[in-house]
Amino acid sequence: MKAVLITGAAGGIGSALVRVFSDAGYGVIATDLAARPADLPCEHYFACDLRRTVEDESFASEVFSGMRKVLDGRPLAALINNAAIQLLGPADTLSREDWRATLDVNLLAPFLWAQAFLPELEAARGVVLNMSSIHARLTKPSFIAYATSKAALTGMTRAMAVELGARVRINAIEPAAIDTPMLRAGFAGNPSGFDLLKNFHPSRSIGSAEGLARLAVSIVRSEDIFTNGSIIPLDGGIGNQLHDPGC
Ligand SMILES: NC(=O)c1ccc[n+]([C@@H]2O[C@H](COP(=O)([O-])OP(=O)(O)OC[C@H]3O[C@@H](n4cnc5c(N)ncnc54)[C@H](O)[C@@H]3O)[C@@H](O)[C@H]2O)c1
Repeated sequence: MKAVLITGAAGGIGSALVRVFSDAGYGVIATDLAARPADLPCEHYFACDLRRTVEDESFASEVFSGMRKVLDGRPLAALINNAAIQLLGPADTLSREDWRATLDVNLLAPFLWAQAFLPELEAARGVVLNMSSIHARLTKPSFIAYATSKAALTGMTRAMAVELGARVRINAIEPAAIDTPMLRAGFAGNPSGFDLLKNFHPSRSIGSAEGLARLAVSIVRSEDIFTNGSIIPLDGGIGNQLHDPGC
């Protein structure tokens, strides 16, 4: 059975990725800062802090060798760099620590994890799939650190695809709003706000975590090595829409 490694596996999108990859017949190695959710259908779960794997090389080696042990020589079909943090704040107060944490988790960890598992991915002609965001291209006030990290993640995907495309495929998805418990929580007591956001999309819908996970499976499953360096928007068309209030 081919294996996939998914970060941020306890989150809204991560848990959908774990379920859908598991249903598609992959052995899922899942990891997150949070403890393993009770019903997560993965083969192995590692609770670990991505930031520590950036800052502490010997901790990183320990984590990676633990994962190699459970891989046990199996091909690694994909590394899905899905975990991220979103520290919001205006330019006046965004701190050095906010920047460091954001770049460690959202950018450096995806690179260092891809670097660490390159031999296993190459052996499987596998895929690195980076979960970027529409914020790589379109953003709003107070999102400077998050939006910059996602723009850099998209840029890194392109640069790595150029260098490594003959060995592994490197792609990214840029989702817009995805219907997760966290997104819903932001609209608690404000159902009309949720409907407003939904109807603002040309598709008149918000993305589903399962739909996103099915797209991820199809990218990983495709044996087409030409799907490399692809940055795939999943946004109901909102990224093409000019918002022209008053016209
Ligand atoms: N939900 C959306 O609407 C949306 C839209 C565009 C992009 N995305 C991207 O999709 C991905 C998943 O988002 P989500 O909505 O499921 O968010 P989420 O907050 O539900 O999940 C993120 C997961 O990452 C984990 N994580 C955070 N810091 C970590 C660390 N230091 N070490 C290990 N794990 C850590 C968290 O514990 C959490 O389980 C993210 O990359 C996000 O930027 C989400």
